[in-house]
Amino acid sequence: MRRLLTEYIHSPERAAKIIRDGGLVAFPTETVFGIGVDATNGDAVAKLFEAKGRPSDNPLIVHLDDPAHWARAASDLPGVAEALLDAFCPGPLTVVLPKRPTISEQVTAGLTTVGIRIPDHPIAREILQLAAVPVAAPSANRSGRPSGTTWQSVSEDLDGRIDAIFKANSTTIGIESTVVDCSGSQPVLLRPGAITLEQLQKHAPQTKQLGTQDKRRMIVSGEQVNSPGILHPHYQPNAKVIMVDGLPPEISNDVLAVSAFCGIEGFDESHDFALCKIFESLESYAAGFYEFLREVDRQSVQRVFVQAAPDEGIGRALRDRQRRAAGG
Ligand code: TXA
Ligand code: MG
Repeated sequence: MRRLLTEYIHSPERAAKIIRDGGLVAFPTETVFGIGVDATNGDAVAKLFEAKGRPSDNPLIVHLDDPAHWARAASDLPGVAEALLDAFCPGPLTVVLPKRPTISEQVTAGLTTVGIRIPDHPIAREILQLAAVPVAAPSANRSGRPSGTTWQSVSEDLDGRIDAIFKANSTTIGIESTVVDCSGSQPVLLRPGAITLEQLQKHAPQTKQLGTQDKRRMIVSGEQVNSPGILHPHYQPNAKVIMVDGLPPEISNDVLAVSAFCGIEGFDESHDFALCKIFESLESYAAGFYEFLREVDRQSVQRVFVQAAPDEGIGRALRDRQRRAAGG
């Protein structure tokens, strides 16, 4: 693709103007950075897929400045979806609804549904408000790589490939939004995130987890795929990722010297790993996980032992990303 001169910006007005003019702008949200583009502009959306190297069968989430504006992207708001928007939005939640025709077909990869999200981040909300168009925004990383949670990481992947990068602090949650499909008879949790299944069920009691059965059906049929993104490789650094429960097995000093470790308990950081990070809490582990994987690559470390996150709170979402980073 043609190399662009990427602008580094601090102004929501500038970001909104570039989006309205059909350009691509990376900006922060509370989960991860996104690359925003006008969701009603098919040519702009096509440029975005090219910049990310994203498979065209993986739909994008449409971002709005206010839950009350759902009709800018969707054609219907079922009761359960309304309850979830009321409870959690703005916030780290995406609800999948029947699509409105004005949203470009490329955004939804030809599906009849659209994912909408109202981010809870002052810069994101201001950009969305000023742009005044629905904004499709995938995570700001080259396809398959760990998501960008700092503007520097976004720059590493996308400088020269998008029009602008908003220079802002790192994101706080660090893991992408919870995705719930509300377009069928029963809400289905498609992607775990900071908002857990139990929290969703308080407001939409019928919500069920996407079963392994469902996933298998998606892979086998190749057609009735509800969330194709689930099938593509994701979050993977160049280093080999090995998930461990607790501490890694005994390894020789030679291997230690080319290995990294991250987790929330076990070592002090003086251990002989080439790179080692112990996070203070589960929340900070989630917030710093992708950036740690990127640091591993910057330092050309060959393998990284990743302590499996506990199965509680945001740990479930983090564990899901860890499993995928490990190629499983
Ligand atoms: O937190 C987030 O959601 C971030 C920030 C930037 O908002 N965005 C993000 O986008 O993670 P992306 O493109 O990296 O992931 C979108 C996920 C994919 O798994 C995709 O398959 C799913 O959402 N998705 C989007 N539209 C869908 C739809 N109509 N039906 C089912 N799944 C959908
Ligand atoms: Mg992504």
